Amino acid sequence: MEFIVKEGKAAEFATEALIVPHFEEEKQLLEGAIYLDEKLGGLIKEVIDGGDFEGKLNQIAVIYTRGAIPAKRVVLTGLGKRGDVDMEKLRGAFSKAAQQIRSLNIKKFATTLDFGLSIPKTVLAEAVIEGVYLGLYQFTPFKTLERDKIKELKEVVIIEERKKAVPEIKAAVKTAETICCAVCFVRDLVSTPANELTPSDLAREAEAIAAKRKKVHVKILDVKEMKELGMNALLGVSSGSCQPPKLIILEYRGGKRGQPPVALVGKGLTFDSGGISIKPSEKMDEMKSDMAGGAAVMGTIMAVSDLNLPVNVVGLIPATENLPGGKAYKPGDILKSLSGQTIEVLNTDAEGRLILADALTYAGRYKPAVIIDIATLTGACIIALGENVIGLMGTDDKLKERIKTAAESTNERVWELPLWEEYHDLIKSDVADFKNSGGRAAGAITAAAFLSKFVGDYPWAHLDIAGPAWLGKEKPYIPKGASGVGVRLFVRLLREWDKGA
Ligand code: BES
Ligand code: MN
Ligand code: ZN
Repeated sequence: MEFIVKEGKAAEFATEALIVPHFEEEKQLLEGAIYLDEKLGGLIKEVIDGGDFEGKLNQIAVIYTRGAIPAKRVVLTGLGKRGDVDMEKLRGAFSKAAQQIRSLNIKKFATTLDFGLSIPKTVLAEAVIEGVYLGLYQFTPFKTLERDKIKELKEVVIIEERKKAVPEIKAAVKTAETICCAVCFVRDLVSTPANELTPSDLAREAEAIAAKRKKVHVKILDVKEMKELGMNALLGVSSGSCQPPKLIILEYRGGKRGQPPVALVGKGLTFDSGGISIKPSEKMDEMKSDMAGGAAVMGTIMAVSDLNLPVNVVGLIPATENLPGGKAYKPGDILKSLSGQTIEVLNTDAEGRLILADALTYAGRYKPAVIIDIATLTGACIIALGENVIGLMGTDDKLKERIKTAAESTNERVWELPLWEEYHDLIKSDVADFKNSGGRAAGAITAAAFLSKFVGDYPWAHLDIAGPAWLGKEKPYIPKGASGVGVRLFVRLLREWDKGA
């Protein structure tokens, strides 16, 4: 799909479909629409006054122009009530309009950014492109039948009247495209089944990211190196699988030499069966998505490099399967982690925290400014906050605030849960330093309390994305399934990084 910014007037622009936005409960059309409506002999007004289209959020009406203007169709697009509008609503409305246009098998459409809002056009452009790009995502590589029936949009044009504004809108479009491309890369990885995406495959994807980018360097630790280092928590989890684990490290060097990096640690379970503490078979297929945190870290490195952000970032992705093979680790086993601390395994399905423990400790080698981990860590987080919300926990208030601000702007909702001292008691073991399960109560929090033992003294935040990584129900610009959550949030955070340092 190509996104183009052109100087010109909507009423003079030849296209298959022209988007014309309208606010609910407004008698008056937007300025651009008034002019179009004159040319169309009052057709737009008639559709609205007749009650067929009210401008409700995400409402669409398609009108044929019959040659009155060069655009073949006008796609009336509801933005809801003016007072309620924000960038999230714009993303959704433009996603829905683009989806409708695609369903009509139309290949090209155009829009202006003249919504009569006092918001910079660069900001509007990013929201519109995000909505369209992310809303049109579909995962089709494994469909072999009737591929010609897969509908695809080819071109989206933003029309801008003021020549002077064109370059900055172009830049904003480019930025949004770069970020969305990374989000869709993550969605692809998360959607790909475990037989097609093993830890080794994930490592190859990381190598490909680095190969294409001068400032990105990759290092993959294999079993031999993990053994030498003593990463026995990660090795323990991987022991039941024939697939060798990998610790994937991606370094992006965009900041000053010697500037401490932001360390991003992402859970990379390419399949989580639960191991010996096996999961019920219902929905077990969805556990191919248990590497969504790791993929989000990879997508972030991709985007920050393509945006050439002036920061240093290191991404660490412990990648493995969790299977109940003959060599599998077992409940009761005690593992000695890279940190030297011992862990009693009470439940082999609490594997994410084990592989993250070693990766978090390893992150300390980079003397990072902060460590943020992102993981599909606990079902308990879904019970606590629902499918759409990221659980946020951590040790550093400033970092948590910055994450909340970034999340607000991308609408990847985060909600903080407490990490009080009392919770730490729940993961003390009788026979080892810690146990890997604190039981059912406060499951998302005790998982975070466990992780905190392996972070060292670095400012740290933890994002539990068990809910939003994989959606059972679509949202306006997030199709059902893999969401790519985390990338936009991290990129937003890193775009602002030096402002808060
Ligand atoms: N990957 C799961 C968490 C998960 C569950 C993610 C559902 C997405 C949807 C994690 O490894 C897990 O199994 N956690 C256990 C921990 C428990 C055994 C302490 C859980 O949440 O039940
Ligand atoms: Mn598990
Ligand atoms: Zn898991």
